[in-house]
Amino acid sequence: MAFLDRHKKIETHATLLLVLSLVVVSIGGIVQIAPLFYIQNTIEKVDGVRPYTPLELAGRDIYIREGCYGCHSQMIRPMRDEVERYGQYSLAAESMYDHPFQWGSKRTGPDLARVGGKYSDAWHVDHFTNPQEVVPESVMPKYGFLLRTAINGQYIADIMSTHALVGVPYSPEMIAAARADFAAQADPNSDTSGLLERYSKVTVANFDGQPELTEMDALIAYMQVLGTMVDFSTFVPDPTR
Ligand code: HEC
Repeated sequence: MAFLDRHKKIETHATLLLVLSLVVVSIGGIVQIAPLFYIQNTIEKVDGVRPYTPLELAGRDIYIREGCYGCHSQMIRPMRDEVERYGQYSLAAESMYDHPFQWGSKRTGPDLARVGGKYSDAWHVDHFTNPQEVVPESVMPKYGFLLRTAINGQYIADIMSTHALVGVPYSPEMIAAARADFAAQADPNSDTSGLLERYSKVTVANFDGQPELTEMDALIAYMQVLGTMVDFSTFVPDPTR
């Protein structure tokens, strides 16, 4: 068989095989990589996705500081078992304003990508204070000290400016109002009109149930927004992308 004989030449010459392999791999690489240089964005725009409010952003920083990502992921993969357990699989756009992203790679606890709205604020307070009281076999550490750690958002405007630097669309107006918005979100009796105008679909609540603004407020505000920005009852994926 002439064809196999010719192939034998390639298989028995290490250098020829190497060179031809490189040619094949390069073609594959170019086909995959070249288009990325010509498109503006690889992330499909999705309605509803907005930057975090100042309080949610502070909660995210507490999440990172406490290493919650060591036990929790925030990415629901597009596989049936995942979708049945956690809900609609995660879209790239849902973490486009996360710097750094919190997809994670370890699930000692459940995925948190859609934990927003799953439990009440009071449930979160109880669970963070003493996880074992809520789920007896839980190995999650206690975070009760968050209830006693007051915060006032004194650096939040700087943090938002830093996020703006890497592409998060925080406007100068949002940054100027950062500290006021920070406090307003945790106080239903305050004037929240500015906050609600700057950020869509914001939950305003006294998250930790205490008069003081604490790290618990921020962390729960962050938990409650996770996975809730996109309205999946009306979301239609763009088939051209
Ligand atoms: C040592 C691993 C570990 C760490 C660290 C950890 N968790 Fe958990 N977490 C778990 C486990 C296990 C569960 C499931 C049992 C339970 O609900 O307590 C859980 C459950 C949860 C739940 C309930 C999820 C659901 O859908 O029922 C939330 C919310 C949560 N963790 C948030 C956090 C946050 C926020 C942090 C950081 C402040 C954190 N966890 C740190 C292990 C951990």
